[in-house]
Amino acid sequence: MSTIRKVAEKSGVSVATVSRVLNNNGYVKEETKKKVMETIRELDYVPNSIAKTLYTKKSDTIGLLVPDISNPFFAELYKKIEIAAEKHHQHIFLFNSNYDHSREIKFLSLLNSKLIDSAIIISDTIQETDFKNTSIPIVSLDKKISDKISSVTIDNFVGGQMAVKYLVDKGCSKIAHISGPVDNDMASWRKEGFISESKKNKIDNLVVQGVYDVKETVKIATDLLNQISDIDGIFAGNDIIAVGVIKALSKNLTTKKISLIGFDGIKLGEDITPEITTLSQPIEKIADDAIDIIMKNKKAKHKVYTPKLIVRET
Ligand code: RIB
Repeated sequence: MSTIRKVAEKSGVSVATVSRVLNNNGYVKEETKKKVMETIRELDYVPNSIAKTLYTKKSDTIGLLVPDISNPFFAELYKKIEIAAEKHHQHIFLFNSNYDHSREIKFLSLLNSKLIDSAIIISDTIQETDFKNTSIPIVSLDKKISDKISSVTIDNFVGGQMAVKYLVDKGCSKIAHISGPVDNDMASWRKEGFISESKKNKIDNLVVQGVYDVKETVKIATDLLNQISDIDGIFAGNDIIAVGVIKALSKNLTTKKISLIGFDGIKLGEDITPEITTLSQPIEKIADDAIDIIMKNKKAKHKVYTPKLIVRET
């Protein structure tokens, strides 16, 4: 097997120079670069990490599938997963699906590729039948895929109920829910919890279809507030929607007091004015659990957290 030393000897340069060429850092004369690259080809030299993967059949890499990395919730989760993974000397290979099922299926084709040793999946649409005989450890976050595949999730239905309880305690008597995207199960469960608790409390309520996008929410919330002027409480499907509601309220220059609660507990919620009251997800714990499950490769384990009410200024 060729080694970096053999490449260096044959090229008449030092090992450090070959390394600089391979990593494309530090100054190396063009001529020298050419010579080193030719020798690499002649000797069929495979750089270390790939050679190691071929030899040990391990890449020390966890594939992470997220639906939308521009949503701070998933970005914050990614960061925490990376920190937890580093403790086990694991790298993260991030794959953004854009909520596109065909992209999710592309990610699943990596499961048997040896490029990743394990996978963390966040998807609303992947089903057990989408997996083709894979034996690597997998954990699903946000949604349980099946009994056989480990998962770490949040109780969305209870979250919807908690939102209503908070608004009722604040004295609201006409509450609206701007929900997450249509066909998103987590959003539907939050909505069902909202409806059920509103009925229990005999509270006048209504549901408006929303999306996880600030700009769109500003339009949706403005229409809602223009059409129904006596709303005094809003449960936003997540904190991004809550940010959109705050923007809509500031644009409408309404003096009427409306209580607002979001979902997720992203940092942005406390960075803006007013700071958003929210039902927070334990992002760090979810990340730690995911890595723990993967590293221990236990038999399927399912963990469900209850969201935590964080009262701020709304
Ligand atoms: O903000 C994104 C939302 O989508 C989160 O609430 C998460 O739970 C997912 O369902």
